[in-house]
Amino acid sequence: MPVVSVTANVPESRYDIHIAHGLLASCSPLFAPYKGRRAAVVADSNTAPLYSYTLLEQLHRAGVEASVVILPAGEETKCAEQLSQLYDAFLNAHLTRADLVIALGGGVVGDITGYAACTYLRGVHFVQVPTTLLAQVDSSVGGKVAINHPRGKNLLGAFYQPELVLVDCDTLKTLDARQVGAGLGEVIKYGCIYDRALFERLESLSTRERLMPVLDEVIARCCAIKAEYVRLDPHDHGVRMQLNFGHTLAHALENAMGYGTLLHGEAVSIGMVAAARWGETLGVTPKGTAERIRAVLEGYELMTEVPAGLSAQALAATMALDKKAEGSTVRTVLLTEIGQCTGVPLTPDQLKAML
Ligand code: GLY
Repeated sequence: MPVVSVTANVPESRYDIHIAHGLLASCSPLFAPYKGRRAAVVADSNTAPLYSYTLLEQLHRAGVEASVVILPAGEETKCAEQLSQLYDAFLNAHLTRADLVIALGGGVVGDITGYAACTYLRGVHFVQVPTTLLAQVDSSVGGKVAINHPRGKNLLGAFYQPELVLVDCDTLKTLDARQVGAGLGEVIKYGCIYDRALFERLESLSTRERLMPVLDEVIARCCAIKAEYVRLDPHDHGVRMQLNFGHTLAHALENAMGYGTLLHGEAVSIGMVAAARWGETLGVTPKGTAERIRAVLEGYELMTEVPAGLSAQALAATMALDKKAEGSTVRTVLLTEIGQCTGVPLTPDQLKAML
């Protein structure tokens, strides 16, 4: 089984990201360093029946005594009550600081499990096994872990890097088409902001069907790009904000339509085309770029236009409240060309005029 490995050289921690088809069923050698330890595998009601048995078997082979904790699937799980349930489960399993917590699922499972791993006993060993494309190319790498607060998403969180990330591309076979699309939006984003060759490869592959046979290589490239941003800016004070290309409008759309109506990656897809158009209007982005991005996104079956009936005024007002707002402007990522970008402060009036 060919395995593509990427090393994240993050300050104060260095970890490998292994990417392969069938990795879940053959990962026991990668757990050899944890021989003799205990592990809690945190899954959700979707991933537990599909993958937890396979992972437990591999852990057992590696000499790791593991049990499974199952959370309800869905964003509502990222809350203080479920976090408390995780602490109880870790205590019941007698996990010590020498032991290991493994997140087996998408971004929700990764985020709450990482936050629990970071805070339980002031930090235990943490491994990510992401099973959605979005988690594989984005949230499992870089150490952002969090739960939601009733007043907002990800308001309680930390930076806590995993020690190992295992990506089994075969998990995407059981993922619904919308979830795959949401991940593809982020994949195309990496091409737009950082890697022209990746963008052109995605452009020439042009459909999901033609991408699938080389998806492991593409995921590895995305992980390498994400790891590079995290190396340069582990705590998200500077260049890492480039990963927010398309997010200015995406956050406003998610807010206006109600969280969960659009998947995050779907909203980002619409937001990237909008940001490319804004860049063209402002003379930052070469003419024709937005159309090229729109064509690629549509080839991969993603939405590219703001749904009818949403008011530009309301969206602009929400964008002005975005957490990236500084004073009276909103720092927005614009492309200087395909594969390169920059942060530009825009006023709410500018944004409203361009919507
Ligand atoms: N998901 C963006 C970041 O990790 O910075």
